[in-house]
Amino acid sequence: EKGGWPSFMAKEVSEEPEAVANTIRGRIHDGAVVIPELAGMDDLFAGIRRVIIIACGTAAYAGQTGKYALEQWTRVPVDVELAHEFRYRDPVIGEDTLVVSISQSGETMDTLMAVKYARERGAKTLSICNTQGATIPRESDAVVYTHAGPEVAVASTKAFVAQITALYLLALHIGRVRGVLSGAESADHVRELEAVPPKISRVLAEEQAHIEQFSRWMADTQSVLFLGRHVGYPIALEGALKLKEISYIHAEGFAAGELKHGPIALIEPGQPVFVIVPSPRESAELHKKVVSNIQEIRARGARVIVVAEEGDAAVLPFADEVLRIPLAGPFFEPLLAVVPLHIFAMGLATAKGLDVDQPRNLAKSVTVE
Ligand code: F6R
Repeated sequence: EKGGWPSFMAKEVSEEPEAVANTIRGRIHDGAVVIPELAGMDDLFAGIRRVIIIACGTAAYAGQTGKYALEQWTRVPVDVELAHEFRYRDPVIGEDTLVVSISQSGETMDTLMAVKYARERGAKTLSICNTQGATIPRESDAVVYTHAGPEVAVASTKAFVAQITALYLLALHIGRVRGVLSGAESADHVRELEAVPPKISRVLAEEQAHIEQFSRWMADTQSVLFLGRHVGYPIALEGALKLKEISYIHAEGFAAGELKHGPIALIEPGQPVFVIVPSPRESAELHKKVVSNIQEIRARGARVIVVAEEGDAAVLPFADEVLRIPLAGPFFEPLLAVVPLHIFAMGLATAKGLDVDQPRNLAKSVTVE
């Protein structure tokens, strides 16, 4: 079943391009997003005043990543909440709230209970799910399936990129319904989204061997930090979660802007830090700020591994390793930047001789609260 791959996780990371492509397939017509499952819901989308995304773990990071585009393209305020926190704080929700749950398995008890809770309080519920006919989509008013295919490894990888893809499709649809995006703007974003799968394939082809090689000399590392800003921030969180999950190394993700508010105290000579660098074309300002963060940690001896766009030369003088991702439009870099982090977590766990598919203490589907 592994089709010649050393693990299901390796196979599933290699399937990230198809996970995105298959989630898009059949949902674009003449450059416009058409989601058959959402037929008849335009009035609802036109009337909502708030979106709350609920999920756990990696699915919540997909939600945090999607929030930026969802808010930008629809101009509806979006909050992302961990499902198990949401339900225990009497949230302000009502008929004009759209609660979007994200779950690969569709069986996560915390997420299911949060969906039921939201429905009981009158909110509209939409599920993004990878498993046909699972409990969460059955308990929701609507569902947009991700088509990542079955995910067997405990650590979620291809489902993550598919979840972001589904959120983007939803955002483009709602943005058009609400008249925020013009047909031409939406078509531009659709083109960028359709260009993602071959770009992920390029990252896999060009960086996999390089990452596996430096993960080998990092096998004794005690702790790894991840920094990101804007859409790179949830990607930093995802990189850290994946690493702790399968390699049992202490890992933490931070918003790069937080560095001087505390985390910089952690930097000592030799500390490995991954930095997701924003595109200098998309935001010269953010790019400059993150490069200056890199200089700050480098000056304190950090071992800096950057994930940066092709052609970004500003990072070169301060980086020990440079992982390149192809150019992508605004909001689309995270779908590329996460790939080296998935490969790294797998490379390090493999270097430590661990079973990447079945990490200790974890289950694929968490069906208890
Ligand atoms: C991380 C991971 C978990 C799941 C979380 C939600 O690699 O796999 O954090 O993302 O348990 O699971 P689903 O998406 O099935 O609700």
